[in-house]
Amino acid sequence: MKTDPKNDLPPYFNIDPDTALGTLGGPFETEGFARIAQACEAGRRDLAGRGLEEDGRRQLRLFSTWEITRYLIPVAVGHFRRVLKQNPELPQGRSETEGGAKWFTLDEVLRLRAHFAAEGSKAKNYKPWRPEGLPAKMVAVANFKGGVGKTSTCAHLAMSAALDGYKVLVIDLDSQGSMTSIFGGKVEDEWQTVFPLLARHYGQHLRTENQRRLDRGEAPIPLDDTLTEALDTQAQRLVQKTHWPNIDLIGAQLNLYWAEFQIPVWRMQARGWKLWDALTESLEADGLLDDYDVIFLDTPPALGYLTINGLAAADILLVPLGASFLEFDSTGRFFDMLHSTFSSIEEAENMAARALGREGLSFQWDAVRAVITRYDGTQQAELAALMQAYLGPVLSPHRQDYTALIGQAGEQVRGIYEADYRDFNRETYARGRETFDATYAALKQLLLGSWRRDEQMAEAAE
Ligand SMILES: Nc1ncnc2c1ncn2[C@@H]1O[C@H](COP(=O)(O)OP(=O)(O)OP(=O)(O)O)[C@@H](O)[C@H]1O
Ligand SMILES: [Mg+2]
Repeated sequence: MKTDPKNDLPPYFNIDPDTALGTLGGPFETEGFARIAQACEAGRRDLAGRGLEEDGRRQLRLFSTWEITRYLIPVAVGHFRRVLKQNPELPQGRSETEGGAKWFTLDEVLRLRAHFAAEGSKAKNYKPWRPEGLPAKMVAVANFKGGVGKTSTCAHLAMSAALDGYKVLVIDLDSQGSMTSIFGGKVEDEWQTVFPLLARHYGQHLRTENQRRLDRGEAPIPLDDTLTEALDTQAQRLVQKTHWPNIDLIGAQLNLYWAEFQIPVWRMQARGWKLWDALTESLEADGLLDDYDVIFLDTPPALGYLTINGLAAADILLVPLGASFLEFDSTGRFFDMLHSTFSSIEEAENMAARALGREGLSFQWDAVRAVITRYDGTQQAELAALMQAYLGPVLSPHRQDYTALIGQAGEQVRGIYEADYRDFNRETYARGRETFDATYAALKQLLLGSWRRDEQMAEAAE
């Protein structure tokens, strides 16, 4: 591209068509996409390989005595060391240098915490609270606006809940699979995602429905191969271990997007199928709500069927958004869409229910909170205050700061909790960690409050 040096013209003047043709290359055909995809795949494998262990698995870093006593098990360092010395059967950690700091795996930290919880002061809550006999809480993170921090928030919350001692399941409902790659998941096709659970739920509905059809003398709707296969699926088969000892994953990959086409077809076929119950009822039926303490759902930037399923399954809904006009505006429209989507489902159901003299449907969540993410106090304080004034208690008062730690963490590390604090300036680390710890504290407040409410209601019912 030539510019006229004399007139210092902008670069889009004086482009010579012949030169342009010379740099253009031949026409592009469909096959070209395959070549690009192959190149990407090769590059992706190379990049992934650099952050992975020999066997292709991610490995979680170790935790130091300083970090454990500061963030995970609230005891004085001296006391911690004494307890370890007195109990040689407990994990003793390992040091990189003679007499250097001791480092522990998270598994070891969890064992140490169990010891302190059993032997230590009852006044300190070493273990996070969960009422006995009540199901896991499901937390969905959603917003139809892209890039607002859904996955980052969801992943960090899952990690902080795990560090806090909860048993966590992460479900990726986004066919982009970002959450899956953060947790090193391997997903071949849609059969290793939530898809078969949704298909099973529909298949079961169809079987019951077909019995009724037969009773009425009507022809049954045939179950195709997909549905027949799905009927044998157990949720446990879809769950993968991750490099975190107490975080498991149901992953996603591109094929999960197929669900967005398949679900409406099923729904057309059997109007009575309650698609919004598919995820919760499947997880409940297979006992996952007892196996875990908290289940996190990451959703795609769209209000499709998968998101609706996730939102309907959730007890707590978090809606991340940046303190910018555009994100505030589009989040407002997201809430409007939620209203029209769920109220139209309720209306249709309640019309049918009234006709049959049955109880109606009314969706309910323990809590719904908007959360400001990537907050920059020097630029956004005014807008954030305005948003707070309009949204009131629906906007979580804690603002998740923008932190260089997330961007800086590079290919190997996928978030603050996986980063080794020695790689950062201590001040930067402490601030970055504090803001995500506070995001978790705000969620834990909702979690414990809603568990307590359930507990009281269960007691009152007895
Ligand atoms: N607190 C933060 N500080 C700095 N960067 C952040 C923070 N939270 C998120 N980001 C960055 O913002 C970008 C978008 O975040 P993320 O992928 O979590 O959004 P998302 O809503 O899940 O996107 P999508 O809609 O595509 O699923 C990422 O590059 C992420 O690293
Ligand atoms: Mg995302």
